[in-house]
Amino acid sequence: MYRGKYYFETDNFKLIYNDIFKAIKKIEDKSIDMIFADPPYFLSSDGITCSGGKMVSVNKGEWDKTLSIKEKHKFNRKWIKECYRILKDNGTIWISGTLHNIYSIGMALEEEGFKIINNITWQKTNPPPNLACKTFTHSTETILWARKDLKKIKYTFNYEIMKKLNNNKQMKDVWTTSLTKLSEKKQGKHPTQKPLEILDKIILASTNENDLVLDPFCGSGTSMIECKLLNRKGIGIDVNVESLKLAKSRLDFEHNNIYEPKLIRADATNLQKIIPSEKIDFIFAHPPYADIIKYSKDIKEDISRLNLKEYLNQMSLFSKECFRVLKKDKICSSLIGDIRKNKNVIPLGFYIMNMFIQTGFTLKEIIIKEQHNCKMTDYWKNKNMDFYLLEHEYVFIFKK
Ligand SMILES: C[S@@+](CC[C@H](N)C(=O)[O-])C[C@H]1O[C@@H](n2cnc3c(N)ncnc32)[C@H](O)[C@@H]1O
Repeated sequence: MYRGKYYFETDNFKLIYNDIFKAIKKIEDKSIDMIFADPPYFLSSDGITCSGGKMVSVNKGEWDKTLSIKEKHKFNRKWIKECYRILKDNGTIWISGTLHNIYSIGMALEEEGFKIINNITWQKTNPPPNLACKTFTHSTETILWARKDLKKIKYTFNYEIMKKLNNNKQMKDVWTTSLTKLSEKKQGKHPTQKPLEILDKIILASTNENDLVLDPFCGSGTSMIECKLLNRKGIGIDVNVESLKLAKSRLDFEHNNIYEPKLIRADATNLQKIIPSEKIDFIFAHPPYADIIKYSKDIKEDISRLNLKEYLNQMSLFSKECFRVLKKDKICSSLIGDIRKNKNVIPLGFYIMNMFIQTGFTLKEIIIKEQHNCKMTDYWKNKNMDFYLLEHEYVFIFKK
């Protein structure tokens, strides 16, 4: 499928260290199921921007230096033409960009025989502020999704999966996420690394397991990582060996059900016979919020059936079990909310927080989770409601 040397290869992933135009020529016609391309935006114009609260240069590297409109468009047409050749007739292509290159990309796609399916807007929740204060803050990127403009072609669109991901509502073409998280940059930084969340949607929407994905400007390999997580195969090309080193080290993780989760029917307040002491590395617990939702009618051990006093007694046993099974210095986190009885607040969250501290945990963090779309129950319709809706929950982070 590729007649050339790889920089790095495994059974499912190949990284190519070469210029796109030289590398892509060696890829067979109609051999790729999906292309994701995040090409240079050509915005390195010696200006300034803000990163991590500091004023920094906008320059990303030599590969991103501003070109004239004609040069930029010539570049885009040339690689998009090659993409058309190597893409299967039922395949699709996604290309991301900003105002610096996306209009040229859109035009080049149509000129080279593609038909644009969607224009996705990635809305960034935490864009860097605009230091010059002469324009609105740039807070979006565009991702064009296109297919070959051929008759009777059925391309892959996993509509139902996308709908499920979106709380069973049709997914729209505006995707809101933060900038790439620091946790995704542990192996090193690439100046234009995409968030995994965006690639997750793209790959899930337009490919099936074992499909072959090509990323002609793979950078730190975000698309390849996501392919690995979703059991797709990938080929990444980049002209910069530093990017490929980073992509290679990001790809170096174990995947594929090597740890099968165990589901156990048991009483979490008494795990003596099931989990030996100091065996667990991390606990996340989301216990019932006392009896506000009763999860069963007749399960004896179900603590959501108990009155508040009995519930707290059982939660105290649970906190002791968490302490016992967790390894030293490891984290136990719990999601819990406050409740209201007879119009007054019962600070269940703080009761539970105190209980874990009494058990011996150190409190590392209190995170307040804002709850959206809260509604009053019908019971309160037309009644005097002299209190606020509880619209918060807590995530407590404890350390043993
Ligand atoms: C916008 S970045 C891609 C970032 C990537 N999506 C990620 O998540 O890390 C563009 C990449 O294109 C590469 N590049 C620039 N010119 C190229 C060329 N002619 N051939 C191949 N790669 C090139 C750069 O080295 C850079 O890593």
